[in-house]
Amino acid sequence: MKQTMIKEFEKVFGDSTGVRTFFAPGRVNLIGEHTDYNGGHVFPCALTIGTYAVVKPRTDMTVRFYSMNFEKEGVITVDLSGELKPDKSLKWTAYPVGVIWAFAEKGMMVNHGFDVVINGNIPNSSGLSSSASLEVLTGFMLKNLYGFEVSNQDLALIGQFSENKFNGVNCGIMDQFAIAMGKKDCAIFLDTNTLKYEYTPVKLSGSKLVIACSNKKRGLGDSKYNERRSQCEEALRRIQTVKKVDTLGDLTEEEFESVRSAVNDPVLEKRAKHAVYENRRTVKAVAALKANDIETFGKLMIASDDSLRDDYEVTGVELDTLVAEALKVKGVIGSRMTGAGFGGCTVSIVKDEAIDDFIKSVGEAYKAKIGYAADFYVVEVGDGPSEI
Ligand code: GLA
Repeated sequence: MKQTMIKEFEKVFGDSTGVRTFFAPGRVNLIGEHTDYNGGHVFPCALTIGTYAVVKPRTDMTVRFYSMNFEKEGVITVDLSGELKPDKSLKWTAYPVGVIWAFAEKGMMVNHGFDVVINGNIPNSSGLSSSASLEVLTGFMLKNLYGFEVSNQDLALIGQFSENKFNGVNCGIMDQFAIAMGKKDCAIFLDTNTLKYEYTPVKLSGSKLVIACSNKKRGLGDSKYNERRSQCEEALRRIQTVKKVDTLGDLTEEEFESVRSAVNDPVLEKRAKHAVYENRRTVKAVAALKANDIETFGKLMIASDDSLRDDYEVTGVELDTLVAEALKVKGVIGSRMTGAGFGGCTVSIVKDEAIDDFIKSVGEAYKAKIGYAADFYVVEVGDGPSEI
C-alpha cells in the first residue's frame, strides 16, 4: 500500500522526498448500537483495514488533497490562511478540513500547509466508519507533523467535535474512540457517559468475525440518524418529569418499565426501550465474552438486531435479509447489523468450518432477493493509528 501510494504521490504532486505515511483503522461494533449518545455502553473494535495518508509538508498555507478512492474529484485545494467553513466544494475533504478547523478551535493552529494522498480499503458508506477513520487519521497526522500535544483519546474527541460542528452529524463518541484507542485482538468496552473503558480480548475459539456489506448506500441515513437522536432526547425529557435520571443509559430494564408510560407516545417509547435494553444487553454480552461463553454473546447479538429492527427501526430489507439468511447457516453463533444502520453492514460470528458456506449461501440468497450482490470480509481486530 505504502509504495503504491508514494508512486501516486509522485504522479500527482511530483517530488516525494520527505513524505511520511500514516494509518488509521476502520471499526466494527460488536454490540451496543445507538447507545453512545444515550449515555450507554458500546463494545466496538478497530480493524486491520483502514485509511492511509502519504503526506509532505509545504512552506506556504496551502493544502492539496488527493484521494485514490475518489480519483475523479481530482486534487482539491484549500487555503488555510482563509476562514475554514463547511462548503459543498470541499466534497470528501470536509472531514479532514473539519479536523484542521477543530484543532484551531482548540487552540492548535497549523503554521504551514501540506500535500497529501489518501487511500483506504474500508468500503465507503458501509457503516465501518470510513469517515471517522479519516478524521482520526487527520488528527494523528497533524499531531505528528506539527508536534501538537494531544492524546489518542483527545483525537477521538476532536474527531467527534469536527463531525458534530463542522459536518453537522450529531454522532456519538463510539467510532472515533474505537479507532483512536484500538488495540489488537481486543474490543473496547466503553461507558460513553464517563469515557471509562476496558480492553476485552476477542477470543472466539474456532470462529471468526465476518462482515457482510449490503452495498446499500445510506443516502438519507444521516438525517434519520439525527432524528433518532432527538427522539431519544425527547423520551428522556418526558421520563425526567417522573424520575430523576441523567441519561437513558442510567436506567435498568425494570426502572424503564416502571416509567415508560410517562413517555406517552408509542414511537418514542420504542426508541427509548431500545436504548435502555441495548445498553443492558451490552453489559451482559461483555460479561459472557469474558466468561468464554460465546453462545450467550451470540444470542445477545441476535436480540440486539431484533431490537434495532423492531423498536429502533434502523435496519431495512437489505440488512434484514443478510441477518435472516445468516441465521439459517449452521455454524453461525450470532449476527446483527452494525453501525448506524439504514444500509451498511452486518457482523456475524461464524465457526471457521462454516465460513465458505456462509459466504456462498448468504451471498446467493441476498442477490436473489435484493437484485445485487453483497460483499463479504473475514476481518481481524487491529491497533489504533500509527506511522508506517
Ligand atoms: C454511527 C455513529 C456512532 C453511533 C452509531 C450507532 O456509527 O457515528 O456514534 O451512534 O452510529 O451505534
